[in-house]
Amino acid sequence: MGSSTASCCVLILLYFFTLVCLSFVRLAGSNQTATLAVNASGGKPIPDTFFGIFFEEINHAGAGGLWAELVSNRGFEAGGPNTPSNIDPWSIIGDESSIIVSTDRSSPFELNKVALQMVVLCDSQDGNICPAGGVGVYNPGFWGMNIEQGKKYKVILYVRSTGPVNLKVSLTGSNGVGELASTDIILSESDVSDWTKVDTTLEANATNHNSRLQLTTTRKGVIWLDQVSAMPEDTYKGHGFRSELVEMLADLKPRFVRFPGGCFVEGEWLRNAFRWKATVGPWEERPGHFGDVWKYWTDDGLGYFEFLQLAKDLGALPIWVFNNGISHNDQVATSSVLPFVQEALDGIEFARGDPTSKWGSLRAAMGHPEPFDLKYVAIGNEDCGKRNYRGNYLKYYSAIRHAYPDIQLISNCDASSRPLDHPAHMYDYHVYTNANDMFSRAHIFDHALRNGPKAFVSEYAVTGRDAGKGSLLAALAEAGFLIGLEMNSDIVHMISYAPLFVNANDRRWNPDAIVFNSYQLYGTPSYWVQQFFRESSGATVLDTTLNTTSSSSLIASAIAWQNSADEKNYIRIKVVNFGSDTVSLQISIDGLDPKSLQLSGSTKTVLTSANVMDENTFSQPKKVVPTPSRLESAAGQDMNVQLPPHSFTSFDLLKESINLKMAGTDSSTRSSI
Ligand code: AHR
Repeated sequence: MGSSTASCCVLILLYFFTLVCLSFVRLAGSNQTATLAVNASGGKPIPDTFFGIFFEEINHAGAGGLWAELVSNRGFEAGGPNTPSNIDPWSIIGDESSIIVSTDRSSPFELNKVALQMVVLCDSQDGNICPAGGVGVYNPGFWGMNIEQGKKYKVILYVRSTGPVNLKVSLTGSNGVGELASTDIILSESDVSDWTKVDTTLEANATNHNSRLQLTTTRKGVIWLDQVSAMPEDTYKGHGFRSELVEMLADLKPRFVRFPGGCFVEGEWLRNAFRWKATVGPWEERPGHFGDVWKYWTDDGLGYFEFLQLAKDLGALPIWVFNNGISHNDQVATSSVLPFVQEALDGIEFARGDPTSKWGSLRAAMGHPEPFDLKYVAIGNEDCGKRNYRGNYLKYYSAIRHAYPDIQLISNCDASSRPLDHPAHMYDYHVYTNANDMFSRAHIFDHALRNGPKAFVSEYAVTGRDAGKGSLLAALAEAGFLIGLEMNSDIVHMISYAPLFVNANDRRWNPDAIVFNSYQLYGTPSYWVQQFFRESSGATVLDTTLNTTSSSSLIASAIAWQNSADEKNYIRIKVVNFGSDTVSLQISIDGLDPKSLQLSGSTKTVLTSANVMDENTFSQPKKVVPTPSRLESAAGQDMNVQLPPHSFTSFDLLKESINLKMAGTDSSTRSSI
């Protein structure tokens, strides 16, 4: 064999060796390649309402959660199969030789007649001496009250007695020891011969996350108590919301708040449904109700007014979901539904009627004379398949259209694949599924009907085994789904995750976006995914073309948006790598002035973790959170970036100049490039 033939053979062998190596590398799955072309010169406007939140009274999200009231069952009215007695969770301090506690119907409040009666048998002055600390009752709040040193707590209660009253109001540890704050209420017989309101403020001298409120006495006599409240003075904007929970919501920059449910609106039975009129007016007069779907009592401190206020405080539009005469198990016949329709009309008048109108005047009396910005209402929740839905829906639709022609009405019937048989401005779309299915649903609206009502994806989440208690896997699948919705935002006008909150002591539904107890909180990875989309509302979605060898596990979108904080224009490219291989992605951006991308100020943010089933917990609240970094050396119109396995990455490219090539947009917050 000549030397040239030999070297030729070596070359051929080397060539095949390289091919084998390359395919081995591919089989081993260490790297995939993809290209993403972004056309920055056009795009379509994303609705201003695109990204929002859905608050449901579920998992003690409101009572014992967002609503800062520390006392659970403040009027001794609680009912329902879970509550051993209507004073639950109040307990007695003392035994039957010193105190007898019962309830009667002597309350001064017409809609919640139950009051607590304490017959005190002991007295510090006579033979039957009261135990040290006295006798009375205590309330542990919602799995312990979070009392913090230096903070003030306003305690209000109503009291009546047959003689003078000497009542100690104190905040203590969970077993009654370790006093954090106290005051003595001393009232003469004439002060308390009829119901009287006591209002006092306690300042805590120490911190205890598992405290209780005690009402005790060492004086013989009969005392009635009703409507006992303990509120921290420090609440969000002074409106009664637990600040750190609302701040988690504010960080999402929601454009709307859908409320108050969900199934909570429907009830298992109509008698347990959320009825707005029972939740407004002075808190003492609200009857409260047992939510039989999520199986707990709420005093309805967080009522219809407070939901409207919450939306306003977040700078978001309220979206009121009302019961349409249908629960899980019973339905009002369409021929009898008019009183329910009137209730909805009254509710709209309460929200936005003139302060001189019947219901608008109640809103004004509650401290909000100017109307709330109620523009959207949903007629029922998940009721499309129910026998009376269409009939009832049409009654609501025509009455509301007639009285409030500008209000947008949302139907429960999915119109993504076939036209609705009734008029609507929007339709609800709910999806709870496994991770693979959620990821594949990124394309579900690609072929949705374009000429009917707009879609409101008002509930979505990965559930079941893939979700754990809030896994990275679930979040990545949802991120892929949301990218698909963003690319279909000509038809998908609103999106919100569900459920929003869970008090870890009452996990009725799993997973949830924000987990809390009396004093701790964290966002699940699904919460953090939502932060990547908060700038999408009112932005412009750009045309993108993704070419990939791993087409089923990669999805990307790009938006142009303006940051209201620095008033600068950005291009945000978001990519989910749902697969277990690293992907080498070549990004090219066309349609820009070549000099317009500014390197300093461009950033990359990655959400990933060592294990795709990783979760956040109270002990590791930041295990799976987005990690931002600067992009200085890599940013440009052509970039080669590495996408880690199981990751969600966004690239925020700061644009230096304004490119007038872009199609006109009508929003002041929409970027023009
Ligand atoms: O988000 C939890 C529940 O899921 C909602 O109450 C209901 O609308 C849906 O079935």
